Amino acid sequence: MSKIKVLKSAAGYDLAASTYDNKEKYLNSFEQNNFLPLLGDLHDKKVLDVGAGTGRLAVLMSKAGAEVTAMDVSTQMLQVLKNKNSKIKTLIGDAENMSFPSNFFDVVVATFLIVHLKNPQTFFDEAYRVLKDGGIFVFSNINQKEAPEVDTKQGKIKIESFYHRPEKIVEDLESLAFNVEKNIFLYENEVWINQIVVAKK
Ligand SMILES: C[S@@+](CC[C@H](N)C(=O)[O-])C[C@H]1O[C@@H](n2cnc3c(N)ncnc32)[C@H](O)[C@@H]1O
Repeated sequence: MSKIKVLKSAAGYDLAASTYDNKEKYLNSFEQNNFLPLLGDLHDKKVLDVGAGTGRLAVLMSKAGAEVTAMDVSTQMLQVLKNKNSKIKTLIGDAENMSFPSNFFDVVVATFLIVHLKNPQTFFDEAYRVLKDGGIFVFSNINQKEAPEVDTKQGKIKIESFYHRPEKIVEDLESLAFNVEKNIFLYENEVWINQIVVAKK
């Protein structure tokens, strides 16, 4: 049996983009309807969705009245998003090195992103910088120890991923002067499947 190639995010998600939305229900099940309500009233808020992908969350935030900027390393994922909603601004960019000015956004979100970052603290630092004082950073950390196989039209691939201990995530945020306001664990069969953190600048 041939081995499955492990790709970096940009190349992997470019291949996965056309079928990514088939997994929407499965991805939603990791949030159990908890994510969006944590963002509060989004009307006229400047929101940055990092690793926005095909806009699973960005589209909902835009409908809730937010001025959404969707950033991602994958051109093809953002192309799918653009076809769904032309109001959302899109930008190709890296979570660890953002081109936005400091103190710019009211809210920064990232769902299913940090599993792809080797060192999330660099991203946390950037999220802190681009947030306004009092702004919130809300993100998820899935309990995934091994990269899953992803079906694409070109065959099966894996996308580089990294497990992050929930305690370390909170320590990292606190060391950057974020105030961790909520640290929520979602469970399936008594095993945690997703951590959702709300941190305030
Ligand atoms: C599992 S998808 C999540 C997409 C979307 N947030 C969602 O919840 O459906 C992960 C996304 O993060 C993007 N990504 C991975 N590493 C990134 C990085 N360093 N900077 C920005 N985006 C990145 C991928 O291209 C992909 O679109």
